[in-house]
Amino acid sequence: MSTSSQGITTITPARRTEYVAYAIRDIAVEAEKLRKEGIRVLPLNIGDPLKYDFKTPRHMIEAVYRSMMEQNNGYAPSIAMDDAEAALHREAKRKRIPNLRSLFVSIGASEGIELCLTALVNPGENVLMPYPGYPLYTAVMQKLEAEIRPYYLDEENGWQPDVADMEARIDAHTRAICLINPNNPTGALYRKEVLLDVIALARRHRLVLFSDEIYDRLVFDGLEHVSTASLADDVAFVTFGGLSKNYLVPGWRMGWTFISGPAELVADFDEAVHKFVRARLCASAPMQAAIVPALEGPQDHLPDVVARLTQRRDYTIERLNAIPGLSCVKPEGAFYAFPKMDVPIPDKEFVVRLLREQHVLVVHGSGFGQKPGTQHFRVVTLPDMATLESAYDKLEVFMRQFR
Ligand SMILES: Cc1ncc(COP(=O)(O)O)c(C=O)c1O
Repeated sequence: MSTSSQGITTITPARRTEYVAYAIRDIAVEAEKLRKEGIRVLPLNIGDPLKYDFKTPRHMIEAVYRSMMEQNNGYAPSIAMDDAEAALHREAKRKRIPNLRSLFVSIGASEGIELCLTALVNPGENVLMPYPGYPLYTAVMQKLEAEIRPYYLDEENGWQPDVADMEARIDAHTRAICLINPNNPTGALYRKEVLLDVIALARRHRLVLFSDEIYDRLVFDGLEHVSTASLADDVAFVTFGGLSKNYLVPGWRMGWTFISGPAELVADFDEAVHKFVRARLCASAPMQAAIVPALEGPQDHLPDVVARLTQRRDYTIERLNAIPGLSCVKPEGAFYAFPKMDVPIPDKEFVVRLLREQHVLVVHGSGFGQKPGTQHFRVVTLPDMATLESAYDKLEVFMRQFR
């Protein structure tokens, strides 16, 4: 508590909240103000396919509905309902993950990420996290009073992790390396050789490798996603997945975690994770009924989603690279692009002005982390072609003032 000069007592929040920010939703607050004034904002900001013209596969909706009608509305086992658990064991096999020690379902991959970092990292220890990267990781680290050690993704090399930079940042307090593959916000898909180099680092320094593979089915140009944990059997891996993106149900909050590696290496950590898994009771019971039909039912939405995203990615890249002052690496997965910009104002001001002047909503690059001296913003490639065309026309006009 603290008392102001007017004698009003306010409740002081914990210090750990001071630097927590989530740029994607923070900037949406600005857009909401415009919407309330009746202005139509073109949203290129949020990684939710349902906000655009993508629809949840019907058989998944029916499975959840049936499950609710069958009164599966009580608490579920902490790990998972039996069917979902069995399907996830098969999913780990499909991903060729050896030495699977345990798995659990969670409230989105988000909860799995938080539980596993919480079970691993002490205050003052550090974890290597990608810059740019998904801001949930940094928010969780702040909650844990742990240190974020950014390593840079190399824009000149298709946004692949810079493994030399990674190694230079490891010290005696480093506990883990996080990979996001395909990456949010760059859309990069990591090469097998790069993954092997990162695994060698984890092996040498006895670090846990977190691999966030939530976009693993959304890969373009005939490329194949390689699960990090499939490439070694002597390192501790934590692999995250979920229904949100691949199966078009981010609002259902259904994700999972695979913990793998040699028993003697991971047993204590695995048990520590499961203490938290049990303490938070369980993930949503009826939503787990979607896991079997999603992973093992008809997959026909996927070619259609990938085709649409490929077309929209191609258009996005063509338009961005044609605008003086912007350049963008071609994404190979997920539904984001992260153009670099050469403008004389800070990226957040750029984004707010683009919103106010042209009503186009993107997210500033500093919300994801970027190399000092560079500026970016993130767009999503989810909108239909007409929306993209109109947004890039407006962006082009907006950029003219800086030339
Ligand atoms: C890389 C990454 N990991 C995790 C998440 C969160 O996933 P979930 O909806 O399963 O919590 C997101 C959401 O945008 C993401 O981009």
